[in-house]
Amino acid sequence: MKKVVILISGRGSNMLSLLDANLPCTVAAVISNRTDAGGLAIAQARGIATAVISHRDYADRETFDQALSELIDSYVPDLVVLAGFMRILSAPFVEHYQGRLINIHPSLLPAFTGVHTHQRAIDEGVKVHGCTVHFVTPDLDAGPIIIQAVVPVLPDDTEHSLSARVLREEHRIYPQAVSWLCQEKVWLNEAGRVVNQDLKFAEAALISPCLA
Ligand code: GRF
Repeated sequence: MKKVVILISGRGSNMLSLLDANLPCTVAAVISNRTDAGGLAIAQARGIATAVISHRDYADRETFDQALSELIDSYVPDLVVLAGFMRILSAPFVEHYQGRLINIHPSLLPAFTGVHTHQRAIDEGVKVHGCTVHFVTPDLDAGPIIIQAVVPVLPDDTEHSLSARVLREEHRIYPQAVSWLCQEKVWLNEAGRVVNQDLKFAEAALISPCLA
């Protein structure tokens, strides 16, 4: 069975969705860069090994990333899953995990990279928004896309209501992506493209607002 290490910085709801999904993998450890990450207690309650490595203890990004990758590699993972890990990772780190490092981002990439994605979607007046699971490459939020979910943006949406609608879909697509990777149904090929041997497509379009 494949081994997975999950990296978090906060509440860990995506981590929990993975732990609850009965995935074909072993979660070897949950690692946080913050001692106050709520997800740590959730993982510990489930008997999963946890570790904290604070970026504040390191002089620069490169030395932190080096120590982080040594910690990750001590668990010998097949896959490293970023689940709300709020650190930008350096190119040597990302390249070390090429094809084995994935992230979930709360927008329909390539739109709205970076932070405050829900408010920016509302401000732009887009009618659909969503979330994306992608392989991580050195360019922020720009790696090859594995799966996306689309939700409508409603006229009275706030950042809070829209983020909740998107988060529900995050909790569906992240377990699907990890399951595919662990079963070797999805991988990153040498050309840097995502190969998926388990494709199914719905005919229906999400049109927002709906047609009259
Ligand atoms: C999620 O919205 C995820 O897309 C983003 O950070 C948030 C983490 O939430 N990268 P949680 O800690 O998984 O609840």
